[in-house]
Amino acid sequence: MQRRQGIIVLAHGTTTDHAMYLCLCNGLTETRVTRALADLRDPPRVSDAYRACGCTALCGTCAEAMKEVVRAERARRASAGNDPLGAD
Ligand code: FES
Repeated sequence: MQRRQGIIVLAHGTTTDHAMYLCLCNGLTETRVTRALADLRDPPRVSDAYRACGCTALCGTCAEAMKEVVRAERARRASAGNDPLGAD
């Protein structure tokens, strides 16, 4: 079995969807956070990621992973011309 960006490739070559959990305390997957951020009108911050999913940061272990998802969303908006501040 091999993992590639949230997809499990089984030994016999087939694949299966695999939810990648970013935040275990709140049960948030990368897909859920990404979709919640995409629905926000303003360029998101890390705190918005939790708020958009109806929760708050608890232990903070997921903070770096959340930052990456927020950076990716801001970069996506910047490339679409929707975030004048860019990905930082
Ligand atoms: S893993 Fe996200 S707050 Fe604990």
